[in-house]
Amino acid sequence: MSIHIGARENDIAKTVLLPGDPMRARYIAENFLENAICYNEVRGMYGFTGIYKGKRVSVQGTGMGIPSISIYVNELITQYGVKNLIRVGTCGSMQEGLNIRDIVLAMSSSTDSAINKLRFNGMDYAPTASFRLLKKAYDIACEKGLNVKVGNVLSSDTFYGDDPDAWRLWAKFGVLAVEMETAGLYTLAAKYGVDALTILTVSDSLVTGHATSSEEREKTFNDMIEIALEVAE
Ligand code: HPA
Repeated sequence: MSIHIGARENDIAKTVLLPGDPMRARYIAENFLENAICYNEVRGMYGFTGIYKGKRVSVQGTGMGIPSISIYVNELITQYGVKNLIRVGTCGSMQEGLNIRDIVLAMSSSTDSAINKLRFNGMDYAPTASFRLLKKAYDIACEKGLNVKVGNVLSSDTFYGDDPDAWRLWAKFGVLAVEMETAGLYTLAAKYGVDALTILTVSDSLVTGHATSSEEREKTFNDMIEIALEVAE
C-alpha cells in the first residue's frame, strides 16, 4: 500500500492508463478489459487491472490538475514499478483547424504552473512525451483514420481563469489545446526514467465556443481509449 493507493505491489500492471475522472476508469475497466479487478477505492479514486488482447493493463483515476495527478504518478512509479503511463483526457481547442472530437497527442507541454520554476530555480524545463509511445499512438491513430494532431499543449492550473483572453497568447505561439495535467506527468516520467504520453479528445473549443454533447463525448472517448490500449505494452 502507498499513501493514496490501496494496492499490493503486483496488483498494478507495468502500463497504466490515466483518466482524470475515476468513473471513466471504471467505464474503461467495464467496457474494454477482461477479468478486471478493482485494486483501489481510496478517496474514490478507482484503479483497476485487467486484460486487453492478452496484455495486462491497469487504469487509474488521477483527479484534476497537476498536484493531483502528480501524487498518483509518483506512487505508481516509485511504489508499484509502473513503466508506461498514458493519460487519456479531454482538452479545449485553441486553434481554428482543431475541431471537437479531434484527437491531440501531446508532444510537449507548456504550463502556467510554477511547479517546474520552483524545481529548477526559476529556469524553464520542457516536459516532453516519450517518442516511442508518441510514434506508436500516431501510427495507430492514422491507421484508424482518425483526425489526429501532434504538438504542444497548455497544462493550466486554472479552469476558471480571470482573463477570458489569456489563451490567445499561447494560441499565437502554436499551442494546440488546453488541459490541466500533462506538464506534471511528463516531468515526473522524465525524473524517474519511465515513458509517458498524453492522448486527448477535444471536448470544447475556445475559438468557436462549441462543446460536445455527453453522447458524442462517449463515442470519441472510445476511439482514444482504443489508441491507448493498443499502445500499451
Ligand atoms: N480548460 C482546461 N481543461 C480542459 C478544458 C479547458 O477548456 N477543456 C477540457 N479540459
